Amino acid sequence: MTAPVLEIHLSDSDAADALHHDARVGLSADPKWLPSKWFYDARGSELFEQITTLPEYYPTRTERELLRRSVGKIAARATVDTLVELGSGSSGKTRLLLDALTANGSLQRFMPLDVSEPALRGAMAAVAREYPELAVHGVVGDFTQHLELLPAGQDRRRLVAFLGGTIGNLLPDERAVFFTALRAALNPGELLLLGAGLVTDPAVMVPAYDDAAGVTAEFNRNVLCVLNRELGADFEVGAFDHVAVWDATHEWIEMRLRARRAMTVRLSAVGMTVRYAKGEEMRTEVSGKFRREGLGAELVDAGFAEQTWWTDPDDRFAVVLAATA
Ligand code: SAH
Ligand code: TRP
Repeated sequence: MTAPVLEIHLSDSDAADALHHDARVGLSADPKWLPSKWFYDARGSELFEQITTLPEYYPTRTERELLRRSVGKIAARATVDTLVELGSGSSGKTRLLLDALTANGSLQRFMPLDVSEPALRGAMAAVAREYPELAVHGVVGDFTQHLELLPAGQDRRRLVAFLGGTIGNLLPDERAVFFTALRAALNPGELLLLGAGLVTDPAVMVPAYDDAAGVTAEFNRNVLCVLNRELGADFEVGAFDHVAVWDATHEWIEMRLRARRAMTVRLSAVGMTVRYAKGEEMRTEVSGKFRREGLGAELVDAGFAEQTWWTDPDDRFAVVLAATA
């Protein structure tokens, strides 16, 4: 077994600059908002892992079941030397893919990419231990910026996995840019494996983002802890309520933090003062849900014409294997 390699494309100072910028832009907007990638410090990644085990959070178990059903076919179609995983987190479900792709004998390298260095380090160590025959090469990076850095497969091919419905956390225009950049980063014939949440009953979708135990609420508020620590801000974290709503127009779940009372917050590292009215809501994330026709067409537009779809019996989630022409 060769030691795992960690490549850092997002240094602490890059991340600090980006956070300054995002806080300045998002918190001076009306309505206020923050990009969701700032949820994922060590605590945020840990809370997300807890979310994936909640009874209300159906996406993880549904996607795992779809992968269980599809990996045989995927491995038969994908004789790849490299599995890249974007927004890899703990790479939990990815073990199903690693098992199938190592069994067909072609896979040599696993490349997880995530903004969360602690999550990435944990996943890399576990995968390196469980799959000693694989070279594990992690990248701390942002999948909206660093796709061109994905190393090319040697004389074979790459499969890029993007699981967990994270594609829905991009806004529609960001999503189009992402698909196009991904297509541009891939050679003809290389493959994308995409996991995406589907539009289903709001009575099912909303509790997945507003669980009874309050883990998602804590996850949502964690972004304020990140701002306090990284930007010297003085958010009173407990004075914000977690809100999750289904936006039927945009077909996304929107996560917000609602100020319980009027507050003035100082972000000392940004030199910025932000005022919240009582009841004011700030958007912290969208989680887009898709319809097959719409997502299929977006993939075709970006150059992923060949598609194989797997969906669960309740049509809540889809796994799509898409190839570039
Ligand atoms: N793929 C895992 C985790 C999904 S949670 C699963 O299916 O369970 C979303 C993951 O994407 C987190 O690990 C988070 O740190 C990462 N992430 C969010 N925004 C990102 C970005 N812009 N670039 C890279 N990783 C990002
Ligand atoms: N990619 C996940 C999703 O959209 C991220 C997520 C799950 C999430 N639960 C959350 C983000 C709660 C913010 C709050 O399903």
